[in-house]
Amino acid sequence: MKIALIPGDGIGPEITQQAVKVLKAVSNKYITEFSFEEVLMGGAAIDKTGLPLPDKTIKVCQESDAVFLGAVGGEKWDNLPGHLRPEAGLLGLRKALGVFANLRPAILFPQLKAASTLKGEVLGDGLDIMVVRELTGGIYFGKRGRAGEGESARAWDTMEYSVAEIKRIARIAFDLAMGRGKKLTSVDKANVLENSRLWRETIIQLAGEYPEVTLEHMYVDNAAMQLVRNPRQFDVIVTGNMFGDILSDEASMLTGSLGMLPSASLGEGNLGLYEPIHGSAPDIAGKDEANPIAAIMSAAMMLRYSGGMEDAAQDIENAVSAVLDKGYRTGDIMEPNMKRIGTGEMGDLISGEIK
Ligand code: IPM
Ligand code: MG
Repeated sequence: MKIALIPGDGIGPEITQQAVKVLKAVSNKYITEFSFEEVLMGGAAIDKTGLPLPDKTIKVCQESDAVFLGAVGGEKWDNLPGHLRPEAGLLGLRKALGVFANLRPAILFPQLKAASTLKGEVLGDGLDIMVVRELTGGIYFGKRGRAGEGESARAWDTMEYSVAEIKRIARIAFDLAMGRGKKLTSVDKANVLENSRLWRETIIQLAGEYPEVTLEHMYVDNAAMQLVRNPRQFDVIVTGNMFGDILSDEASMLTGSLGMLPSASLGEGNLGLYEPIHGSAPDIAGKDEANPIAAIMSAAMMLRYSGGMEDAAQDIENAVSAVLDKGYRTGDIMEPNMKRIGTGEMGDLISGEIK
């Protein structure tokens, strides 16, 4: 498997390193080769080339089987114009790779129940929610602009989806629901937004092809509330780009920490982009404090969706679970009587479980 590596900014490089350690353990066990090619994106690319997404990066990524990304962004680049910010590199890469379907599983490891901000009785015997976020359309990519000056300066971003875009993301979500609990919640704001009304109509139309899936519609404000009130009612959630951005951060906290949530971004082919959902956390960068589990779990998703290596993906997930069973924790998921360790040791212990 040919993997393009984008360590990125802040804690990106140190967590990427842990994911690579784990992949090396997998390659030893399964006697299979992974080749890694490092490329620049985000702040690191701006510093070296002046651009957040150099052409070479796009080319190497397009010619790979999968792209693994640490994280991008940081205060240092916050005052650049929008199209030159590190985040513009990430959005450009998602678009260039055509990865319109962002899968963000929020799974609560039973060992981390007490690290969740929710009470035990709300979490019950666990959580397993799959958030499917549309990733290459909506308000992130709509027409935007600014006009006027001073008090009359205005700025706008527009949210636009075509039926074709809604259908292709909905299909992914319906298919995933078929392989799981057969329940799909579509999140929109159809009581206010025209765009959401088209979203809802299109999903309802498609539902005819999936008679076994129980489809439900929820306004985004209600969904945000229901996620903390009764998260176990959810199986698969499908929603647009911005609502998905917000709800997936919320869902991650249910699992104990933002540092636990991986993601896979998929398009029409096998090529996928894999990244933890958290950001670059500049405040703890280089301090060996970051939780590498979201990155390591993203590597598992990479083997599952782009590598066709389901067994190896499960090995990684089991290895994470085994290390948590032994009481090892990074700071973000630390609890009394557990053993606090750093980023590098967490990577060593998890890769050590893969034999
Ligand atoms: C995410 C991040 C990105 C997004 C940022 C860094 C552009 O928040 O992957 O959720 O908004 O998509
Ligand atoms: Mg986000």
